[in-house]
Amino acid sequence: MKEITKIAPAEGKLGILIPGMGAVTTTFIAGVEAIRRGLAKPIGSVTQLATIRLGKRTDGRSPLIKDFVPLAGLNDLVFGTWDIFEDTCLEAAQRAGVLEAPLLDKLREPLSVIRPMKAVFDQEYVKRIIGPNIKDKGTKMDKAEMLMEDIRQFRESTGAARLAMIWCGSTEVFHKAAAVHRTLKDFECGLMKDDPEISPSQIYAYAALKSGVPYANGAPHLTVDTPAMMELARDRELPICGKDFKTGQTFMKTLIAPGLKSRMLGLSGWFSTNILGNRDGEVLDDPGSFKSKEETKLSALEQILQPDLYPDLYKNIYHKVRINYYPPRGDAKEGWDNIDIFGWLGYPMQIKVDFLCRDSILAAPLVLDLVLFMDLAQRAGMRGVQEWLSFYFKGPMTAPGLYPEHDIFIQLMKLKNTLRWMQGEDLITHLGQEYYD
Ligand SMILES: NC(=O)c1ccc[n+]([C@@H]2O[C@H](COP(=O)([O-])OP(=O)(O)OC[C@H]3O[C@@H](n4cnc5c(N)ncnc54)[C@H](O)[C@@H]3O)[C@@H](O)[C@H]2O)c1
Repeated sequence: MKEITKIAPAEGKLGILIPGMGAVTTTFIAGVEAIRRGLAKPIGSVTQLATIRLGKRTDGRSPLIKDFVPLAGLNDLVFGTWDIFEDTCLEAAQRAGVLEAPLLDKLREPLSVIRPMKAVFDQEYVKRIIGPNIKDKGTKMDKAEMLMEDIRQFRESTGAARLAMIWCGSTEVFHKAAAVHRTLKDFECGLMKDDPEISPSQIYAYAALKSGVPYANGAPHLTVDTPAMMELARDRELPICGKDFKTGQTFMKTLIAPGLKSRMLGLSGWFSTNILGNRDGEVLDDPGSFKSKEETKLSALEQILQPDLYPDLYKNIYHKVRINYYPPRGDAKEGWDNIDIFGWLGYPMQIKVDFLCRDSILAAPLVLDLVLFMDLAQRAGMRGVQEWLSFYFKGPMTAPGLYPEHDIFIQLMKLKNTLRWMQGEDLITHLGQEYYD
């Protein structure tokens, strides 16, 4: 056994700060409030429901993760949000149309007091929406300072002992990292000079990290995946992670692709299409925002299948991803996959997947797990990119030069081994020779 990592206790309230109060955020907050009141169960949440095996299979030690590592309790969470619309959390949840009216009626009291703070917004980065609740004066640096002031006031008014920020705002238009993202100094000069390459999400992330708050990115755009933000996170000893919650179709992809590869079955094509009608779908109808999504959605398959190592099986894959905005479906997305595979002697076969999913129902437990684990990571002194949280993302962040691990089963093993490592337990290798000595 190794030494136990020193983890500060989860004492006091944990403040969850969320830019963007749309479908995912309201489903998350309403869900936590419902669970606290015993109205529902935290289905889909690893921190709340999963166990972790310790020691040998014969030892019979499998505590709940939440009993094994010191996580903040659901009763200790307080919420603060920003949005370009002025709707309260209750109104935004009603508008999002994910949760049914009878449940929202029971949560009227806690949800109607959550009002979004004024957002930092730029229509160059999110084209299809515009709203009144924005900070419209000053340079990008001034806006970062206003966000830091929001954070300070939130900390004071709620009495939160610790904070964590998670981006659940709209997906921004695709941009590659630019000169302004090279170092922290370049980035700060860029904020003062209103550099057009700095997006609103990066201003939130900068304000969070400067305020000592860990940052997780639920959308596919860059935000903290740049050298400048990694430098700031390291300097301030703060965890960061991203990008893009792994929920519907990509979740299915990372379940099926490792299975095909494990049996050395070939793949000639994978065509994925989606219809969805929520605001996220509307924003993604813009080609710039879709490009950000396409990047994370396409990369998973390539990384899992490793065509360079297995050219006979995966060299010529035709991979296509489509998202179509279709209002009648609202948040109830439908994702179709047509998968063309081949087996022994090259004989072709097909798999069809029709996933009638609920986007925000799948995303909300990931938000919960991420904020609790980011808070744990900070108390455990873990700084910079948290690769062990890859499990939650379509486009996991890694150290520069390292390829990301997309296989969900490897990701889960990495996550659980990290928890074992934190608590000084033996890592589980699944070798199993000891049972047969
Ligand atoms: N639901 C899923 O399964 C899923 C999966 C992966 C990623 N995501 C990502 O999570 C994010 C949220 O998804 P959603 O379905 O809740 O979308 P949504 O459109 O319902 O909510 C996004 C909210 O962000 C607000 N917003 C936009 N720019 C902002 C800014 N600069 N500051 C503050 N608020 C801002 C919008 O007004 C909107 O209310 C999106 O980026 C989406 O791509 C969602």
